[in-house]
Formats: sequence, C-alpha cells, structure tokens
Amino acid sequence: MRPNDLGPFWLPFTQNRAFRHSPRMLSRAEGMYFYDESGRKILDACSGLWCVNAGHGRPGITAAIRDMAGRLDYAPTFQFGHPSAFTLARRIADLAPEGLEHVFFVNSGSEACDAALKIARAFFAKKGEESRVRLIGREKGYHGSTFAGISVGGLPNNKKNFGPLIGATEDQLPLPYDAKTMRFTRGEPQAGAEYADALEDIVARRGAETIAAVIVEPMAGSGGVFASPQGYLKRLRETCDRHGLLLIFDEVITAFGRLGAATAAERYGVVPDMITFAKGVTNGAVPMGGVIVSDRIYRTFMQGPELVIELFHGHTYSGHPLACAAAHATLDLYRDEDLFARARKMEPVLEAAVHDLKGAPFVSDIRNVGLAAGIDLEPDPAAPGRRGYDAMRRCFADENLVVRISGDTIALAPALIATEDDISRIVDGVRNALKRMN
Ligand SMILES: Cc1ncc(COP(=O)(O)O)c(C=O)c1O
Repeated sequence: MRPNDLGPFWLPFTQNRAFRHSPRMLSRAEGMYFYDESGRKILDACSGLWCVNAGHGRPGITAAIRDMAGRLDYAPTFQFGHPSAFTLARRIADLAPEGLEHVFFVNSGSEACDAALKIARAFFAKKGEESRVRLIGREKGYHGSTFAGISVGGLPNNKKNFGPLIGATEDQLPLPYDAKTMRFTRGEPQAGAEYADALEDIVARRGAETIAAVIVEPMAGSGGVFASPQGYLKRLRETCDRHGLLLIFDEVITAFGRLGAATAAERYGVVPDMITFAKGVTNGAVPMGGVIVSDRIYRTFMQGPELVIELFHGHTYSGHPLACAAAHATLDLYRDEDLFARARKMEPVLEAAVHDLKGAPFVSDIRNVGLAAGIDLEPDPAAPGRRGYDAMRRCFADENLVVRISGDTIALAPALIATEDDISRIVDGVRNALKRMN
C-alpha cells in the first residue's frame, strides 16, 4: 500500500515539508534491519527510537500479542484488572533495585514522567508537606513532550512557543559535561561528580521545604548521549537524602539493557525513589510505559479510608492487555538470551569502533556509554542543525542506515543483538556519509 498523499499525516519532531520531498519510508523490519517497499535492506543503528532492544520482528513477541488479542482485546484497569498486568508488574519490580516494589502503568515515556512528577507532588501533599512542589530537571534533559516533560526538560526548542509552562520548574541542574576537558571521553568521565553540588545551591536558594523532586536521565539520551560522570549519581542521591527530596531516574532509554544492566540504577549502584520506563519494556512492539515506585512512597498513599481512591491519575490504556503480553514475551527474550550481559560485552566493541571516527570530517566530540554513542558535528554557523540533518539523510539514502539525530549530534544505539559486524557497518556508514558532506 503505497501512499499517494503525504499531506494528512503530520509527522512528530520532523521537518514535514522537507520529508515530503524525499520521504524515508520503512515498510518491514526483521532483526537488525528495516526494509523499504523495494526490498532495500536498511541497517537500524538506533533500535528504532531506542526501543527495539531485542531486534525487530521477534516471533515470540508477535505470537504473544496475537494470542492476547484473541483472548482479551481490552480490559479496563480503573476498578478492574486482568492477570497479565499483575504478573508483569511483579516481573518489572523484580528487575528493579530492592525497595522499588510497585509499578504504575502508562503508555509512553512522556506519560511515565508526567506520572512520576505528579506522584512526587502528591506524595508530599499526603504527608502534609504541601509546600514541597518544586520539580528540578537538568540542562539538555528530555522527559517527553507533554507540558510536564517540557517544563522540567532542558532542550530549549521543546519549550519555545508553548507559552507558560508548569509552575515551580524554573530551576535546573547543569549538564555534567565540560566541552573543554571532556571531549572524546570513553565511557563515564572520571571527573565531574561535583556537578551534582549545584543541587545544594538550589536548595540553599529556594529552601528544601519547597522542593519535591529531582528528575535526571542517568544517561542523557535525546540531548546527545552524555554519560553520568563517575560518582555523580551517588552524590545527587546523597544530596536528595540530606534534604528529603525525591530522586527520579528517567530510565525510558536506559532501562532494559541499554547500559548493560536491567536498569542504570543497577549499573551505578544508586537507588532512586522512582524509575520511569517505556520503550524497551515491549521491545517497541506495543506502546507501554510506567513508573516503578518505592515501597515507602506507595505506603504513604495506601493509608486512610479504604474506599478513597489513593491517586487520581491514570489512562484508558494503562496496563493494556496487548502491551502486557508484548512485555512478558520481551522480558522472556531478555532473560533467555541474556541480552543485558550481551550489551555489556559489546560495549567496548562499540566504544572502540565509534571513537575511531575521531578525525573524520566535522567530528568535534564522541561520547559513549553502554550500547549508545553520540557523535557531535561542528555546526554550520549559518544553519545550525543542517549538518546533523544532512548526515541522517545521507546515511539513509546512500549508506542504507537509520541513525537518530539531535541537532548536529548523531546518536547510535544498536539493538542488544548487534554483532561486531553490524557495529562496523554502522560506523563505516557514518564515516562514508561524513566524507561526502560539506
Ligand atoms: C529519557 C526519556 N524520557 C522520556 C521520553 C519520552 O518517551 P515517549 O516518546 O515514549 O513519550 C523519552 C523519549 O525518547 C526519553 O528518552
């Protein structure tokens, strides 16, 4: 079915008019590859949008979705439940660090962040600390595209033109990165834990009694792949503890193996109060997200008269049966193929390959952590973003490669099943594309 009119579908986060001139259509996918209508094989260097962690078209996931669709197409989770959502919540909580015991399901990463931020404010309201409303994000942070997400987010274009944002979100931590000293760092920068101390300054300025929560990505993904410096997250945790603030790890990208562990919290040995997840939980096959919440927070809500709803929040499709089926089958794959350990094993392979791009045309920085890498290109002073766009376009058209861009940064995040050969092909493709650019 070839569309003959590209007007009706308004693509998100896309230059729609440019797209219409040279559409990039993907018609089928299997393993590490997309295919277009003509059968051209296109290597997926970013696991779709950081979500297809086990590779495309896994038959177990497809069968589970098909089976559930035939048995239970839909069931409400307001006042009712279905078994698969409960067993899935158990499995997800079991993958999280101890103490994170309860799962609130939503349908996307944006909704997960929105829910976590609302739970944070409501937690303090329940405790009688109504003045704790401030939500602190970080420069270059991405927490989805809802009003809450862009309010705590740190990507200026995402905030521009949308009028007043959510109140009490003005304070932001700095990105723990210094272009002068950290360029071409491999893995987590050794220095930089002290960037967490900016939280102390905010507390001193605003007063701890006004702050509810801090939300950070353990690896800033959409902002351009920035790993947390060694010791940084631990220091944030300690500061939050000192002042009674909740710490939220936005693990929409990092949960389910991207950093070689079930969660970044596990990799870094730092336990937040909430973890948001989405993407990899269903291998991208059905929309799903959620918040893993500490027992302490949950218990604060589970008090008072039993006939009172504890949290006035949720979505029609929260814990949708098809999403639960896809997630169960996905978690089976991660377990049976030991894919998180595989990501850990492939991390040095991606690191070596991607840092070999140093010296390629326009490359001004390269960063990596887990199975993710960011390659900064010097912006065209007359048209920032043009080089990133051009690289993405050429990778697709000439190198049969799907890469992700954020401004002039190319992001690579191959599926956890990627072989050494796949990784070489990805990096060679990027190099070839850069060589032809101006
Ligand atoms: C860290 C992070 N949080 C939230 C989101 C938003 O997720 P979604 O696009 O599913 O709403 C993303 C998406 O890339 C993300 O990377």
